[in-house]
Parts: sequence; structure tokens; C-alpha cells
Amino acid sequence: MRYKSISIVVGICLFTGLVLGGFLAVRTNKIETVADDTEKTTYEIPIQERSLKMVFVGDMMMDRGVKTSVIKNFGGDYSQLFAFTDYLHNADIVVGNLEGPASDVGKNVGSKYSFRMNPAVIATLANAGFSALSLANNHAGDWTVAAFRDTVNRMQQSGIVPVGIMENTTELIPQVISKNGINVALFGCTDVGPTWLAPTATGSGIVLCNNPLLVPAIESAREQYNVVIVTPHWGDEYVGFTKRQETLAKQWIDAGAHGVIGHHPHVIQATQWYNDGFIAYSLGNFIFDQHFSAETMRGMVLEMTVNYDGIVAVQPYISPLSKTYQPQPLREITDADIVTKNSRTETRLAVTCPQGTGENYFLKPLSPALSVGNHIPMNLVPIAQNLPTGGRDFCLNQSVRDAAEKMFAEARIAGHTYLITSAWRSNEQQQQLWQADQVILSQNQNQLPQAAPAGTSEHQLGTAIDIVATNALTLESFGTSQAYQWMRENAHLFGFVQSYQAGFESVNGYIAEPWHWRYVGIEHATAVYDQQIPLVTYLENLEN
Ligand code: DAL
Ligand code: ZN
Repeated sequence: MRYKSISIVVGICLFTGLVLGGFLAVRTNKIETVADDTEKTTYEIPIQERSLKMVFVGDMMMDRGVKTSVIKNFGGDYSQLFAFTDYLHNADIVVGNLEGPASDVGKNVGSKYSFRMNPAVIATLANAGFSALSLANNHAGDWTVAAFRDTVNRMQQSGIVPVGIMENTTELIPQVISKNGINVALFGCTDVGPTWLAPTATGSGIVLCNNPLLVPAIESAREQYNVVIVTPHWGDEYVGFTKRQETLAKQWIDAGAHGVIGHHPHVIQATQWYNDGFIAYSLGNFIFDQHFSAETMRGMVLEMTVNYDGIVAVQPYISPLSKTYQPQPLREITDADIVTKNSRTETRLAVTCPQGTGENYFLKPLSPALSVGNHIPMNLVPIAQNLPTGGRDFCLNQSVRDAAEKMFAEARIAGHTYLITSAWRSNEQQQQLWQADQVILSQNQNQLPQAAPAGTSEHQLGTAIDIVATNALTLESFGTSQAYQWMRENAHLFGFVQSYQAGFESVNGYIAEPWHWRYVGIEHATAVYDQQIPLVTYLENLEN
């Protein structure tokens, strides 16, 4: 089975549930078993070097005021709504929420607002680039189950994957899109009804977010597929995210989801990294006729890079809506775009770094024998505003952050761009990583460890970063990239040293880690570079 090894890797990441994205992107020998012969003949690039670009948009409703606008302003041509959305064509997988049936059957059930869109919008959405649309939302049943099922059929005929549906009452499985050898599992659900549209003994329906089959289904999807995304319709309209949204999102990420991308509140809500999972609580409106407020006339568009091992980077943009309900060209997002009103839970857009009282050990030789215990250093600061983190946030010693900022600015001039996949780690995080690594080691007797025991990791000092390059997104491919070569030749000029260089494995006690760089200051980094000795040896010599 092609993905057997991946399941192991992914299972371990789930087990650790940490903020450390690429850390466990695991050793070369595992990867080789993934890229079997079939794979090699089908693809030139090994799976660990492939990535996909996914795009997520929020609520789309093309009935009522949108329909009137399309008739009046665009001569009835729905495709003109997508005049400025070329970025959808440029993505590998595009996912949105279709807020109601697109059908010519059924009858109006008479809900407060009953939507039924012109069935032509489905072909339009397919032509605009959509690969999947969630139907698990509060308007799915507006024109009876007949219109809902007709919509599902029409989508399937147009090549759009219907998300958030169940064929029967007993089987909850994700919709899976495979591209470039990477399998993405999509779950959708609604937490705001209609509960009567759940599947019955006589046929299909929508997934409800409280369906007890959902969490086990996410757990098993994590074992089977590379990327697992849940796209729920939930929360309260026009306000910040709720405690329940946060609880559900974390439950799904704990179960193995890489991303939780929500909609329904019609406004943009906060985004957050929780352990190694990304949450966007609500993307707001992509196409909707809610002209009564500025907040409802824009949506968040998420561009997400994924690889065989989960999410690599997330970039949010704002898609403004014109008066004619046509999404306008994307612009940058600001804090003011995010609605926090009445948020019944704390809104966190950046990590909060602990204010430690421990000394800053820039030159402490760390090894399994020399522990700093549960040391929390002083001067930890968030880095996402200053350094490339792929949308997540980490803590790092302030002067290390500043040095890395200078280094990456210089590297950019030379044409190299990087992503930080790990920085400061707590003792607990390190403990979990170490445990996961022990599981891998127990299956590979002759291998050196990749994770340091808790208390002995340079990451706990707040002075080490793990990096990959934007054109070599996995730990393995980074080691052979030009971007890595640039670091080898230049990092010391900014105070960084590669702690676990190839050739020094027996001294270090760890596998070679091209991705792991520690800050020791320019003077010491240059000395280590010139002397070509292991960092730990240099630091021990300093102490003696
Ligand atoms: N990967 C290095 C050894 C650490 O866990 O700190
Ligand atoms: Zn590291």
C-alpha cells in the first residue's frame, strides 16, 4: 500500500499533537518506502517534495439580491461574478460553502429566508475553479430533500465534490480529493440545522456536527489520508467566535484534523493555531447579498499549502464584495477585518509567550547528559510578525528573532526564502516529541534519535529554529536544496550554527539535521564555522 508508511508518520504526529509541523516529517528511509516503484513511474518528484495549493472561500448564496443583481448588471450571466477570481483557477483544490440548493425541483418549506439558486450556478462554479462545495448548512433543506438531492446530483455531474453529506445513517466518511499523489479528506457538518435533513433509512442527508460518528471518522481519516480538513457551518451570526466553536475545533484537531475552516456567521472571525492544527472560525461572505454592514461585504480567502504530511503554510487574504455582489481582487488582511464583538471566548491572533525567569543560555552545551530541566528563558517573544512562519506563530528569544530577521532578509536578496517550522518548545512539548520519536526508534533499531529528551533540547532555550525552504518544504528535501547551501555558507555571519551537522552524528548522538539552527552570536558561530568542529564540542571546550 502506497500510504502505509504515511499513516504511521501521520499517526505519530497525531499522537504528539504539537505545534511543530514539519518536525516529524520523518526520516529518509521511511520516505523511500512511501515512494514505491509505481509512484516513481507515475511521478518524477518524490511525494515528500510535492505540495498542493488549496483555496477556501466562505458563504456563497446566489439567490435573492445576488440573482437580481446578476440579471440587472450582468445580463443574467453568473460567470461575471467570477471576473476577478483567477486565483481559483491557479489553485489545485478550491472549497467553498454553497448556502442552499441549486435546483429546479422541490417546494419552498417556508423558512424565514428560503433560498433556491438557479441550477446554472453549479456549472458556473465548476468553471470558476471550484472542486468541492459544502452543503451541510442551515439552508440546505430550504426547498425540501428533493432539491437538496438534486443539487448533490448536479454537482457530481459537474465534477464538484459535495462535502458534508452522508449516504446513510451508519456510514460517515469524508469526501477525498487526490491530486499529485496527495490525498485530501474533507469533512463538512452543520451545527445550526436543519436536523431533519440528516440521513434517514430511506436516503442521504447532511452531516450534523454533533453526529457521534464524526470524531471517530476524523481519527480514521488521519490514519488513511495525508491531509484532513473539517469545514463546519456553525457559530452565531455577525459576532466573534463562540466557546462552542472553539471546543469543537479543538476536539476535531485532537482527533487528527489538520485544519478546521468554518462559515455561517457571515463575518470574518479570528484564526488560530492549536497544536499542529489551523482554525479559521469563519471565513465570512464570499458572495452574499448582505449589504447592510461593511463586515458582511467581505470574506476571508485562505490560501493553504499542504503536503503529504499536513498543512505547511496558510495565507489569509480579504476578498471585498462590490455593490453588485461581485468578489473584487484580493487585498491584504488587517486586524480590523476580524470581528470580535461579543466573542464569548478570548480571541487570540498571536501566541502568548510565557514570561520566563530563567537565564538565557546562549552558550550552554546541551546533550542528553546535560539538562536544563523545565527551564523557561526570559525574553521570549512572538515571531510571526517578523519572520516567515507560514501563518502560525512561535516564541523565540528576542535577539535571536532579530538576528534571524536580518539573516532571512539577506537570504531573500540571494533568492532564498524560508519557513520556520519550530522554535521555542516547552518541556511538555519536548517530552511529547521525544515519546513519539521513541516509538519510531523502537521500529528502527539501528537509527539515531531525532528528538532530544525533555530538558535537553536547544529549542527549550528559545535560541534554536527548525527551517525549510519555500521551494523545499520538507525536512528531507531541504537538506539537498540551494537554500540549505546558502545557510551553510552564510548563517554564521548572523550568529547561527547548524548543531547537528552530517558527519558529526556519533558525537552529537542525533541524526544529521540540516533544518536545525542554533543562535550563539556571530563571534562563536564564526569560530565554529572556521574550526569545523561539532557545536557541542566547541561549547564544551569553552566551558572547560
Ligand atoms: N531535534 C533536536 C535534537 C531536538 O529535539 O532538540
Ligand atoms: Zn530543531
